[in-house]
Order: sequence, then structure tokens, then C-alpha cells
Amino acid sequence: MLRRLLVPSAVALLAAALGAAGWLLADAWWGAAAGVAAGLVVGSAGAWVVARARGDRRALRDGAQAARLTGLRFVAHLPPPTGGDLRRRRAEESHRMLRAALGLPGPTASGPERTVVVTSSAPGEGKTTTAAGLARALARSGRPVVAVEADLRRPALGRALGLDPARSPATGLATAIVDAVPVVDLLVEVEPGLRLLPAGDLPPSAPELLSGPDVVRVLSELAALGVTIVVDTAPLLPVADTRELLAGHAVGHVVLVVRSGAVRRAEARVAAALLPEGVDAVIALAGRGSTPRAYDRYLRDSSSAPRR
Ligand SMILES: Nc1ncnc2c1ncn2[C@@H]1O[C@H](COP(=O)(O)OP(=O)(O)OP(=O)(O)O)[C@@H](O)[C@H]1O
Ligand SMILES: [Mg+2]
Repeated sequence: MLRRLLVPSAVALLAAALGAAGWLLADAWWGAAAGVAAGLVVGSAGAWVVARARGDRRALRDGAQAARLTGLRFVAHLPPPTGGDLRRRRAEESHRMLRAALGLPGPTASGPERTVVVTSSAPGEGKTTTAAGLARALARSGRPVVAVEADLRRPALGRALGLDPARSPATGLATAIVDAVPVVDLLVEVEPGLRLLPAGDLPPSAPELLSGPDVVRVLSELAALGVTIVVDTAPLLPVADTRELLAGHAVGHVVLVVRSGAVRRAEARVAAALLPEGVDAVIALAGRGSTPRAYDRYLRDSSSAPRR
């Protein structure tokens, strides 16, 4: 509260000081009025500049704000997937909304149109959880899906899909890129209609692996299987990996996950600006308390509705 009063008080003080100076210098009412006016103009301009700079460092709060800042389409709130039955259903519903918003084409479409990259600006915003949820939602709607563990620094998609990390295979995306092993031999079954391309043994240099024609070849090989491809990636700002992957133009859709209350507005804006021209990029807002209570009520009261 006190911090909110700081800027108006500073502007008022500056105006009063300049008004007093004007009175003393001109020894007339118009001197004071000119001083007050100058104080208000200078103080307000300063306050505006400070507020803008501070605003960029502040955390992003809601979907409308995310859309305004990034210029991308805001399509879904992503509540945390953990907790009781209602929470789980709410999270599942949010992944269906994401699925619907992407409007992915059928199996006859070319590769890039059926490839979705899930990324974020900063670490820990909820990419892997979202990629797993989206892959499941797509598979349960009858589309064959391959989820690709392309965060080669912190591969966690297999675990998010319920696979035992201790039994994670040594071969995967890295092997397909380096050794040109046919990608179909590297897929791991998760559930009907959903397979995983694991990261495989981690390479010394992830960005080099994800740049250039080899990763594009692997994605095209997957696309030729007639599947929808959901790619979990590293965050855009701290490392080059995902930028390299996107530069290959093998991706039609990007989901930029932003974590409400955590990611800075400037970070979200910069990340959105890094996305290449021509991809269909959307924003989804992860975080607690982002969905109105009425939505929960509706979901609770409509438990007989189909779950797909
Ligand atoms: N929609 C969400 N709302 C709130 N918390 C979430 C949400 N999704 C995931 N989380 C939590 O955030 C943490 C990070 O999730 P996750 O691993 O999916 O993020 P990430 O962006 O993939 O992280 P990293 O950058 O390390 O790969 C986990 O504790 C997870 O439970
Ligand atoms: Mg992750």
C-alpha cells in the first residue's frame, strides 16, 4: 500500500516544490501556477518511465496480459496437475483445450504442420508437464502421437508420462541424430496410440545436435509415420538448444508456457520475439489459482460428461 502511494506523493511533492520556487522567483500567483504545472508534467513523465521499467521486471499475472505483451494468442489456463480428482480433471480439461486450440490437421498433412514444440522462456515453467498432458490428450482423441524428449539437458518427459527413469533406454533422439538409426526402432510404447522417443544418452553438446539438417531428418522420419509429434524442449532464454531446433523450420506449432506469478513480463516478451516467423504460436498460462471458481463448479457438477 505504502509503495503504491510513493509515486503520487513524489509527483505532488515535486509539483509543490516547483510551485513554491515559482512563487518566490516571480512573486506572483502565475509563477506558482507555472511551477506546479511544470512539477506535475516532469513528475508524471518520470513516474511513467519508472513504472514501465518496473513493470517489465514484475511477474506476469494473467492470460490477457500475456497475450498483450507477446502478441500471441492466449488459449488455455494450465492448473497444476497434482492434487485430488477435481484438480486432475481440471488439468486434463486444460490439455484438451490446448489440443482444440492448436487445430492440428489430419495424417495426410505435411510434417511441420503436425509438429508441436512445447517451450517456455525460463526453466521450471511447466513445459514437460504440459507436453506430457497434451500428448496424452491427443492420443486419447484417437490420433497416434510420438512425444519427443528433446530437452537434452534435463530430459524428463518419459518420467512425466509415467515411465520408470531407471529403465530409460540409452538410445533415443541423440542416437537417431548422430548414428542415423531408423527412428521407428527407438520408440517406446507408453499407452495405446502414444509412443515416446527418449532423449537417449546425453550428448556433450546439445545445441550442436539440435541444429542443422539431422534433427530435421529425424522429425521428417517421424512425420512419415503419420503421427502427431509433441516435442518437449529446453527453455528459450538460458540456452540455445530450442532456438536451434526452431531455426530448422521443421515445426508448425509452438506452445509457449508461461508461469503466472513467476516469469517476468520482459522474459515472456523476449521469448515470444525469438519464435520464428510462420509458426502458429500460442500462449498457455501455467500456475495455481488461474481458473475462476465457477469453472470448477461446472466441472464438478458435470461428472457424467464424457472424459475425452
Ligand atoms: N500447470 C502447472 N501449474 C503449476 N505448477 C506446475 C504446472 N505444471 C507443472 N508444474 C510444476 O512445476 C514444476 C516444474 O514442472 P516441469 O518439469 O513440467 O517444468 P519444465 O518447464 O519442464 O522445467 P525444466 O525447465 O526444468 O525442464 C514441477 O514441480 C511441476 O509439478
Ligand atoms: Mg522440462
